[in-house]
Amino acid sequence: MMLAVRGLDAGYGKLAILHDVSLDVAAGEIVTVVGSNGAGKTTLLRALNGIIRPTAGTVTLDGIDIAGRATEKMAALGLMHVPENRLCFPSLSVRDNLNLGAWSRGGKGDLAAVLELFPRLEPRLGQAAGTLSGGEQQMVAIGRGLMASPKAIILDEPSIGLAPKVVAEIMRVLTELRSRGLAVLLVEQNVRASFGIADRAVVMQRGRVVLEGTPAELVELPEVRNAYLGGAAA
Ligand SMILES: Nc1ncnc2c1ncn2[C@@H]1O[C@H](COP(=O)(O)OP(=O)(O)O)[C@@H](O)[C@H]1O
Ligand SMILES: [Mg+2]
Repeated sequence: MMLAVRGLDAGYGKLAILHDVSLDVAAGEIVTVVGSNGAGKTTLLRALNGIIRPTAGTVTLDGIDIAGRATEKMAALGLMHVPENRLCFPSLSVRDNLNLGAWSRGGKGDLAAVLELFPRLEPRLGQAAGTLSGGEQQMVAIGRGLMASPKAIILDEPSIGLAPKVVAEIMRVLTELRSRGLAVLLVEQNVRASFGIADRAVVMQRGRVVLEGTPAELVELPEVRNAYLGGAAA
């Protein structure tokens, strides 16, 4: 497994949020994590990325234990976190935003490869990132992560607030990353979109993994349809 999480506990101070979370993502695989608001999805990504320190469990990336390592070391170790709300530096140009992602690799990133994935960014390289549309800013946030040539990428609700066409574009890029051999862990509220591309899915409730399977298996379950797909049949 490229990314393997075993028995992870984490929280905020004395407040325990994650309980015994285990999941795997292989190279060339997309695993999606779904769950209602407050289930602990964002906390999981923060614990993987070292923003908060796990209190129990292990996280291995390509065989190396990374649990509890400092956040600023994670990119160099090969783990890239694309946080929620597509954080760009609004007054910096698109080019500078992207180049910041290469910092962990001594400033050398493959800008051409990122522009190939996101051709819309090329004519906008000199533009302040804050002037881009929401979808384009999400592309910058993902592109910046890719500049560090990660082995695994973990994304927190990249589709939030975006038009369906732009969501489809983001999902297409994630499938492209899968075909390049990355391990992709995708936290999504938009279950329809994430189930459309994921190889496997994990459902979280109150800080625990309560269900897992392929999207095709999970959409057969009435509790999944009712909670995350508006009750509609697949
Ligand atoms: N910085 C924080 N300090 C204390 N509690 C937090 C903090 N961030 C999130 N929480 C709590 O952790 C729980 C899980 O939140 P979160 O991981 O954001 O869920 P999700 O991303 O699934 O909506 C919630 O009960 C939330 O209130
Ligand atoms: Mg969240």
